[in-house]
Amino acid sequence: MSNECNSSKNAFGPAFFEEHLSVVAEYATELGKAFGADLEIIQLAAWLHDISAVQDFAALPRHPALGAEITRKLLQEKDYPSERIERVAKCIASHSTPVQIGNGPLEEVYVSNADAMSQIVKPAYWFYYVFQVRQFSFAEGWDWLRQRVESNWAALIPPAKEIIENEYRLVRETLVL
Ligand SMILES: [Fe+2]
Repeated sequence: MSNECNSSKNAFGPAFFEEHLSVVAEYATELGKAFGADLEIIQLAAWLHDISAVQDFAALPRHPALGAEITRKLLQEKDYPSERIERVAKCIASHSTPVQIGNGPLEEVYVSNADAMSQIVKPAYWFYYVFQVRQFSFAEGWDWLRQRVESNWAALIPPAKEIIENEYRLVRETLVL
């Protein structure tokens, strides 16, 4: 993913690797370790979850399903066990809103929650995203950021909220929510 992120095709910019993918991998792993889940599935899904949109920004609206497809092919080429490929692919397909405990396998819960957490704890990157990548106006971008922070926070599972409580408080103050 490091190569993919550095490609000129990646509209999210090279910082996406450090500021988003590695953050998702870190939080998903932290949750997975604390509550018992398959860390290899979690890490593969975390690093690959946005691959479709990184390769082609126009795919953004459908990137969870398309990313699951790309990942299936990628892991099949590596002879990864098919039952495990399916688990990784499902994590990617369901990552765009936080899956609640009981509504899916733990790996899906943690990857999707970590994705939402990353949008709360890395405001500098998401400012760059709205104003540089998306080219939103000031008011639109501000609104997008506020809504993202609030809707992500509201949807997080309690242990995810606990991990980023301080960061949430700080970003809330910054965005004058
Ligand atoms: Fe993501």
